[in-house]
Amino acid sequence: MKAQVWTIGITLAVGAIVAGLAGVAVVYSGTFNVAADVPHSWPVLALMNTVRERSIEVRARGIQVPGLEDPQLVLKGAGQYAAMCTACHLAPGMGNSEIRPGLYPRPQNLSKVRVAPRKAFWIIKHGLKMSAMPAWGGSHDDATIWSMVAFLQKLPDMTPEQYREVVAKAPPDDDMDMGASTRPEAGSSTDAGRRGTGR
Ligand code: HEC
Repeated sequence: MKAQVWTIGITLAVGAIVAGLAGVAVVYSGTFNVAADVPHSWPVLALMNTVRERSIEVRARGIQVPGLEDPQLVLKGAGQYAAMCTACHLAPGMGNSEIRPGLYPRPQNLSKVRVAPRKAFWIIKHGLKMSAMPAWGGSHDDATIWSMVAFLQKLPDMTPEQYREVVAKAPPDDDMDMGASTRPEAGSSTDAGRRGTGR
């Protein structure tokens, strides 16, 4: 009996060491291709998608969604979206941009798909690691991010004409002007500080 327990224990330990060494070998051999123009194998893709979905779901769960129907809020979001998001997420009537075909994962065409408000807010505020989606929360307050979420709820129903009209009426994206007026030193020190928090 005792001998059996020992045999099982040693087998498990050897197995763990072999698996560990195999992992190290894969990392150091350079087998894993990090190129953005070569898709993930399906097990890696399935793993990453599950990690992504679960991570967002758990973190977005407690977010309180404010009223999103206010036309002024939607207008503000339209201006923000047109200024910052269309190169990657497109707009009604817009063909592919120069940057989008080369991105992996490919950003969703948000003029065709509607993302639930809690999830959209969390992703816009925090961004997504290992994708090109930036964390806009560093330069935009929650109210501004909610304006984008409000606009995104309407966007998939808009024709190219309606889109053009709403963007033409939208208030200008003044966050960008604020960024420009805070100038080099101030800007770079906040950037460094933000990176330093490791969040
Ligand atoms: C440089 C490219 C880029 C820019 C600019 C960008 N995004 Fe993204 N976005 C991405 C990528 C890449 C993803 C993730 C795709 C994936 O994981 O499948 C993403 C994901 C998202 C998602 C989640 C979509 C889904 O179906 O899960 C939302 C919502 C979103 N972005 C909104 C925005 C908004 C709003 C802006 C502008 C403020 C913006 N993005 C700007 C690249 C970008």
